Amino acid sequence: KSLKKYNTFGIDVEARKFVSVSSIAELKDVLASNPEEPLFLLGGGSNMLLTKDVQSLVIHLNLKGISIVGENEDTVHLKVMAGENWHNFVTYCIENNYGGIENLSLIPGNTGTAPIQNIGAYGVELKDVFVSCEAVHIVTGELKTFSKEDCKFAYRNSVFKNELKGKYIITSVAFQLTKKNHKLQTSYGAIKDQLASKDIDKPTIKDISEAVIAIRQSKLPDPKTLGNSGSFFKNPVISAEDFQQFRTQHPEAPFYEVSPTQFKIPAGWLIEQAGFKGKRFGDAGIHKNQALVLVNHGNASGAEIWELAIKIQKKVKELFGIYIEPEVNVF
Ligand code: EPU
Repeated sequence: KSLKKYNTFGIDVEARKFVSVSSIAELKDVLASNPEEPLFLLGGGSNMLLTKDVQSLVIHLNLKGISIVGENEDTVHLKVMAGENWHNFVTYCIENNYGGIENLSLIPGNTGTAPIQNIGAYGVELKDVFVSCEAVHIVTGELKTFSKEDCKFAYRNSVFKNELKGKYIITSVAFQLTKKNHKLQTSYGAIKDQLASKDIDKPTIKDISEAVIAIRQSKLPDPKTLGNSGSFFKNPVISAEDFQQFRTQHPEAPFYEVSPTQFKIPAGWLIEQAGFKGKRFGDAGIHKNQALVLVNHGNASGAEIWELAIKIQKKVKELFGIYIEPEVNVF
C-alpha cells in the first residue's frame, strides 16, 4: 500500500503490511496477533520523513471521539481519542468557548501524537493544558494512564521520545481547558501585530485563533498543496558562553533567553543566513517564507529531502559552529 496519502511530506513509499484500527480493542487484537512483529505507528503523518519502503507492520491509528469527562463553572475536562485531527479539536474548542489551545491552531497532525513531541507555538505548549494520556503497552497490551509528570515534557520532547520510545501507543489524551477567565497568551510579536492590524484590543480566544491561523498561513505551506512537515529542525539551544561568542560575531541575530545559562537561536534565521531560503534542488526545497520548513515540490523522494537536510546541517555548522538537530522523525 502506498503511504503517500498518509504523510504530509507526500512521500511515495510502500508499506508491506498496513492495518487501520478504530478502537482500543482492535488495536489490542492486532498487537496480540502480531507478537514480535516490528511495528510502524502512523497517526497524522505530519512529523515524519520516510526515506524508504516500510517493511514493518504499519498500524494506522484511527480512533475517534471527543468527550467531556468532567466540568465545573470555570473549567472543562475533555478526553480526545488519538486519531482526532488536532486542528479539528482546536476548532471544536473555539466553537464551545473552551480556552487554552487557541495558540495551537492549525498545527497539522493528530491529537494522539501531540504529546510525543509536546507540540507548541506562539508561547503555548501542549503541556500547559495536558492532564493525562492513556497508552497501550505494545508487548503486554495493558492500558496505562500517564500523568503530566510521567510524561517528562520539555521543548519538543517527552518520555515517549526517550525511555519509552517504541514501548507504548497513545490511545487518548485528556485536557483541562477554561470556560471563562481565559488565560490569553498574546506576548508574541506576530500575534500582537496581527491583532493590532484588525484593531482588536480585547481579544477573544476566537480572535487569537484567527490571528494564529493568519500568521501560519502567511509563513507555513499547507501540506495539501505543498508537501512538508512543519519545522524540519529544532531551534538550537546553546550555552551562555557559546552565545556570547555568537552574539559578538552576529549582533543582528534574533535569540530567546531560555535561562541565564541557555540561549535559543532560531534555526530559520541560521538557515536563511546560510543562503538556503527559497532554494530548490530538484523537487526538494526550502520554503520561501520560512527557512525552517523543507518542502516537497512534487515528486521528491525522502532520501532527496534527507540529503538536502544534511547539506543544510553541514553548512550551518560550518558557518556558525552550531549543530541543528532534526525535529521530524526520519525513517
Ligand atoms: N527567521 C528568519 N528566517 C526564516 C525563518 C525565521 O530569520 O526563514 C527568524 C524570524 O525572523 C524570527 C525567528 O526566526 O525572528 C523565529 O521565527 P518564527 O517566529 O517563524 O518561529 P520559529 O522559531 O522558526 C517556532 C516553532 C514553530 C512555531 C513557531 C511559532 C520550532 C522548531 N518551531 O518556529 O513550530 O509555529 O515557533 O511559535 O520550535 C513546528 O514545530 O512544526 C512549528 C511550525
